[in-house]
This record gives sequence, C-alpha cells and structure tokens, in this order.
Amino acid sequence: MEADRHSRLLDAVQTAVEQFDSNPDELIPILNQVNRSFGYLPPEALEEVSKRLKMPQSRVHSVATFYQMLSTKPLGRHVIQFCESAPCHVVGGREVWQALQDELKISGGETTPDGKWSLITVSCLGVCGVGPVLIIDNEIFGNVTPQQIPDILARYN
Ligand code: FES
Repeated sequence: MEADRHSRLLDAVQTAVEQFDSNPDELIPILNQVNRSFGYLPPEALEEVSKRLKMPQSRVHSVATFYQMLSTKPLGRHVIQFCESAPCHVVGGREVWQALQDELKISGGETTPDGKWSLITVSCLGVCGVGPVLIIDNEIFGNVTPQQIPDILARYN
C-alpha cells in the first residue's frame, strides 16, 4: 500500500516535471500539477521536485507553503474557501467565518477529524458585490449569512 502510494507520487512528479521540460522557472505550475493529481504535496513530493529541478528544497518548500492553491497537508473531501478580503469582511464576513468555525469545530487551515471538510481562507474571489462569499469545491455561495451555514453544509451530506 505504502509502496503503491510512493510510486503514484513519483509518477505524479515525473509527469508534471516532464510536462514543463524540467524548467525551474515553472516551479509553481509544476507544484500545482502535482497538487492536483496527487491531492496535496507531501514532503516526499517536494523533495523529489527539488531533486529533479536541481533547486534547493527550502525554495520548493517556501513556494509550496506560500500559495493558497497549493496544500502541503491532505485536504478533506470538501474544501471550503472563504473570502477574507475587506469588502466581504465589512458586509458580515467576520460573523460568517465565526459561524463556519463553530459549525465545523475547526479553525482556518484545518481539516475535520473525519476527513470530510477543510476550511481555508482566500483573498478576493472577484465577486465582492455578493459578499460575504464562500466556495465549496466548485460551487460559489454569495450573500451568505451565519444562519445559512448549517443548511449550506447539510447539502453535502
Ligand atoms: Fe470577497 Fe471580493 S472581497 S469576493
């Protein structure tokens, strides 16, 4: 099982690195590609990318942890992206954020123990007119109120 996981991981890295001609300037798209095909970026993936691109592991690690679209931890089956930028914040975002954390019993950046939900914050999603805004997987919810949170989450049962 572990060997199988490791070989899937190596395959994901190899495919991504080859797709971008082993070009170190393409580090972000390469990591993004591995993240998408493997689900997240475990330490072995970062090590392998750094070896293949011949760049320091510290650099690969800092890029992997800087970008919100990349995750170095396994994510839940459903990922909630919550817009934390000011325009959403001032129209009730702060209360919605609190309601999400209360309902899921986790903080931002965490995954529920049952592996169902991950909660992350993102910057402006470009739909400030309907703030507060959150995205669950690929579905966008606008004008969200704290009271709606239980119903929204219940759709994913
Ligand atoms: Fe939230 Fe723009 S500030 S979508």
